[in-house]
Amino acid sequence: MVATVARLWEARQFGLTHALASVATTPSANVYGRLIATLFETGSYMSEVKEQWGSRIGVIMAVAGSAVGLGNFLRFPGKAAENGGGAFMIPYFIALLLVGIPLCWAEWAMGRYGGRKGFNSAPGIFSVLWRHPLSKYLGALALLIPMTVYFYYIVVEAWCLGYAWNYLTGSLMMGKNPEAYSAFFSSFTGSDQDGTLFSSLFQPALICIAITFVVNFLVVYRGLSGGIETFCNIAIPLMAVCAICVLIRVLTLPANPQNPEQTVVNGLGFMWNPDLSVLSKPETWLAAAGQIFFTLSVGFGVIINYASYVKPKKDIALSGLTASSVNEFFEVCLGGTITIPAAFIFLGSTTLLSFTSSSFSLGFKALPNVFAEMPGGQVFGFLWFFMLFLAAITSSLSMLQPVMAFFKEGLGMTRKGSTLLMFVITCLGTGFVMYFSKNLAGLDSIDFWSGELFIVVLALVQAIIYGWVFGTKLGQEELDAGAELRVPRFVQFVIKYISPAFLIWILFSMLTSRDKVSGTLTMVKKLQDPIQLAGFLIVVGSMVFLWVMVFFAGQRWKREGRA
Ligand code: PHE
Repeated sequence: MVATVARLWEARQFGLTHALASVATTPSANVYGRLIATLFETGSYMSEVKEQWGSRIGVIMAVAGSAVGLGNFLRFPGKAAENGGGAFMIPYFIALLLVGIPLCWAEWAMGRYGGRKGFNSAPGIFSVLWRHPLSKYLGALALLIPMTVYFYYIVVEAWCLGYAWNYLTGSLMMGKNPEAYSAFFSSFTGSDQDGTLFSSLFQPALICIAITFVVNFLVVYRGLSGGIETFCNIAIPLMAVCAICVLIRVLTLPANPQNPEQTVVNGLGFMWNPDLSVLSKPETWLAAAGQIFFTLSVGFGVIINYASYVKPKKDIALSGLTASSVNEFFEVCLGGTITIPAAFIFLGSTTLLSFTSSSFSLGFKALPNVFAEMPGGQVFGFLWFFMLFLAAITSSLSMLQPVMAFFKEGLGMTRKGSTLLMFVITCLGTGFVMYFSKNLAGLDSIDFWSGELFIVVLALVQAIIYGWVFGTKLGQEELDAGAELRVPRFVQFVIKYISPAFLIWILFSMLTSRDKVSGTLTMVKKLQDPIQLAGFLIVVGSMVFLWVMVFFAGQRWKREGRA
């Protein structure tokens, strides 16, 4: 033991990895030594094989997999129905064109550039884009967001698994009975009381979360190409098949016999007919812009990480656009056509609107009533929730990878080590969300701070770094290298001037909004509630933790002459 400490002390000037390597070879420390050798790289930083995507279609599928998720099927229909139906699509498409697609391209370009310079994590990539000591700390935001969003996203993913299972066994076929489904939801998710999910080891939600964790970590442990890419290559076509089956079922539903005007066509009209009066409300614009970020996974630090694994001269321009288009297909054509019209036929517009106040109500409380009444409902219910589960996995995988990439290159961890560390951190975060389940307060709090507010901040940081520091000239060159689609020049103008202006406006409106959903002031007030405060502190604590790690990473990169 003494020898171990002495070695550690002696080797400290060579940095963490060398010190750990030295401990690993200390005879008296064979147990610790072996453990450390499994968790940390002991050679040079290049000793683990550089990860890359196996094929072009693979990277498109992986990015599309990240984008297509619960946001497309639960969040989008609710937001659209709540914010003027068809009219919502006007700010939605404006946000898509002014910030969504341009920023996606910016992330792809910065990511592949950083990857060529040997970095896969945002702190590393930012440090080559902007040679300033602060840049890597800004990059830490692109680790914080996916990590903390994972804490709660995985919980909803586990609900989808639970619902799919309960359709398979038939327990969710309880007839048209809104109270029964609300009660099922409350007991399954623990939203009526804190701590109930941990009252026994065999709580269904606990089993589902355990399975969901295992699936996610097994896939990421298998690596980028062997794990994530392979999984997405199978899951996305499977999701498309399941969703199209449900879509055909919905579009061929007869009118409701009790209310003959409740037809599919009127349901589509309910979703899509524009109520133009909502356009004058800033909330509609905020909701639309927020939805664009969330759905494209832009501003989360995910695309920049995934793009860093693209080979230097391989196309990113067309791949980026394709992945975003696949997402829009799933969102607008499938997500927008299934949920609302189906619910409209069986529930009618008034009841339906009462479910749109939260994206969970629509998916987990309203839809089961619909499946209960539709012919073949059990099968379609299963297909629907199983599809949601798959869609959620391909998204949650993309939240783990950016942080694990950082643990590897910043702290010199092996794949085993980074998987294990990430596992421990996410168990703690998810444990919090699951324990404080009453009114889903833990989830709500982290979702607001990370998944709504900070993503706008990160998007703004990225637009500024790309447009003003890295430069649109280099940016265009990067997008053009190996490109199979020429990105029009005006996109650079958009990223440099229009996107930041739009983002500053959104940020300002969010910070001053009293809206009960997207209002920062409302959320600040809510901090009086201890759980809301704890959620906020978890986000802040994670930021501090990541900054400390980034500090060590910076030292390491300096020693290696990389930054
Ligand atoms: N885009 C995903 C969805 O629509 C959510 C997500 C956000 C995924 C951030 C990865 C990273 O559900």
